[in-house]
Amino acid sequence: MTMAVAMWCRHKDDNIIGINNQLPWCIESDSKHFWDIVTNQNVVCGRKTYQSMPVQKRDLPQRIFVFSTDNQFEVSDTKKHLVLSSQKKLEDNLLEEEDIYIAGGAQIYELFMQGKEKFKPHIIVDCVYEGELLNIDESAVNITSVINEMQKKYRKITPDYCQDNVASAIWIRKGEFVEQSLLKRLVQILEQG
Ligand SMILES: NC(=O)c1ccc[n+]([C@@H]2O[C@H](COP(=O)([O-])OP(=O)(O)OC[C@H]3O[C@@H](n4cnc5c(N)ncnc54)[C@H](OP(=O)(O)O)[C@@H]3O)[C@@H](O)[C@H]2O)c1
Repeated sequence: MTMAVAMWCRHKDDNIIGINNQLPWCIESDSKHFWDIVTNQNVVCGRKTYQSMPVQKRDLPQRIFVFSTDNQFEVSDTKKHLVLSSQKKLEDNLLEEEDIYIAGGAQIYELFMQGKEKFKPHIIVDCVYEGELLNIDESAVNITSVINEMQKKYRKITPDYCQDNVASAIWIRKGEFVEQSLLKRLVQILEQG
């Protein structure tokens, strides 16, 4: 059975995750958590998030499924990165037991929280940053609707792991089976800092 994990780092209170197609902060430990979690996994992201990832990280061993309506969109590694236009196409390209890691941005979190039942996140790694934002302007993207959904349908199962002004915790969907070995791996990454 596919386990779907969503993860993000949002700004406390306003739930901003990006400005001007970039992260509005630069926190090494947060970025390390992200890449530790997704390396060698199946990553799902939107075209804008894909374009905002550092190329040397993006081209590590993980597979990346890039959502775009433009089937001519050029990826940097044609062997490991695949452009998809729907969740149905994702289903066609995944084996039954393969897990996915939903890495944003806002449009993709929204799509997966509302879309196909089997791809609704079973687990959320919710990281909350309390600090200054860089370059705030009108292009700020927030995930407030996604957070409202999380607060209704998920329960928090860990304490906050705090580092560098970021409090990270794991939430699971109420009433759903969750693979314990996967949870353990995520907790270890957060605990190690
Ligand atoms: N803080 C965090 O944890 C975090 C994580 C990820 C991203 N971010 C930030 O979030 C921002 C980007 O988020 P975003 O919401 O603007 O963009 P996004 O979700 O990364 O990408 C949006 C694009 O995805 C494609 N798309 C969306 N829905 C689709 C669907 N149903 N079917 C097919 N394709 C679909 C479209 O691509 P086309 O236009 O090519 O059709 C759309 O323009 C950036 O600032 C990034 O740095 C932050």
